Amino acid sequence: MKKDFLDISDHSGEELLSLLNFSLDLKKEWQSGGNKPILKGKVLAMVFQKPSLRTRVSFDMAMRHLGGDALYLSPSEIGLGKRESIADVARVLSGYVEGIMARVFEHAHILELAKWASIPVINGLSNFNHPCQALADALTIYEHFGEIKGLNVCYVGDGNNVAVSLMQICAKLGSNFIIATPEGYDMPQVSVNAAKIFAATSGSKLTFLRDPHDAVKNVDVIYTDTWTSMGQEEEAKKRETIFPPYQVNNKLVSEANEHVIIMHCLPAHRNHEITDDVADGLHSMLFPQAHNRMHAQKAILARLLGGA
Ligand code: CP
Ligand code: NVA
Repeated sequence: MKKDFLDISDHSGEELLSLLNFSLDLKKEWQSGGNKPILKGKVLAMVFQKPSLRTRVSFDMAMRHLGGDALYLSPSEIGLGKRESIADVARVLSGYVEGIMARVFEHAHILELAKWASIPVINGLSNFNHPCQALADALTIYEHFGEIKGLNVCYVGDGNNVAVSLMQICAKLGSNFIIATPEGYDMPQVSVNAAKIFAATSGSKLTFLRDPHDAVKNVDVIYTDTWTSMGQEEEAKKRETIFPPYQVNNKLVSEANEHVIIMHCLPAHRNHEITDDVADGLHSMLFPQAHNRMHAQKAILARLLGGA
């Protein structure tokens, strides 16, 4: 494994699958009484430039379950790149703690942090991607279906950070990825080009569409996320006029496979990108998916901080 966990595309399909299997082992171990203290005495600094529920709590609990500890550093405390340069923050924290998890606005900032830190850096979301989310998403799919290669995973909505990491992990693990986005809200072309190369190796097929109804035909997973990500608040009004045809509602779900599962990284904007009846319906995997953040991140932490 590399020193850091910054982008799904940095890791091979074998490494990612091994992390998924390790996550399942750690989950079973925890369910049957508790984890071994692989990270005893180790501390993770959690740097947040944006709000969070899942990322903050699941990383904190993952560290505690593995015998370690976590420090929450709020946006107002650090002022990453404002009060102090990112390079200085990285070098200072490297002398105090064993790992850094950071949620940043600019993807360049997480890269800068990793470049200067001598300890592992984990990306807890940037404007470009959300790799820990994608690992937990793949874990949820793998656990539910007992496989991941060859499944049809469909994302409906904004071609955002969550979509990019989901596409990358599907392309690495051999799942087919189908996305329906409105014009002007596609994923960055550079990520798409890279994913096409991963897909050619894994046997995954990537499909880019505009019509969500075409996209959900024969799919095993329908995934959606907010229409307006953190940092895009000034575009919210405009987005509310563009995205309604991309709402994941009962009609759209009925057009997919009968066994389809519904996923959303949360927080959900209920009755906007997803209706209440779908979010709380029979096909919903929203809460097991959120819970799997903790299990997937345990595997990342144990590998990077504990050498497991
Ligand atoms: N899905 C996710 O990252 O949630 P938070 O923003 O609450 O961490
Ligand atoms: N795309 C969303 C994900 C939140 C977990 C955002 O960046 O706000």
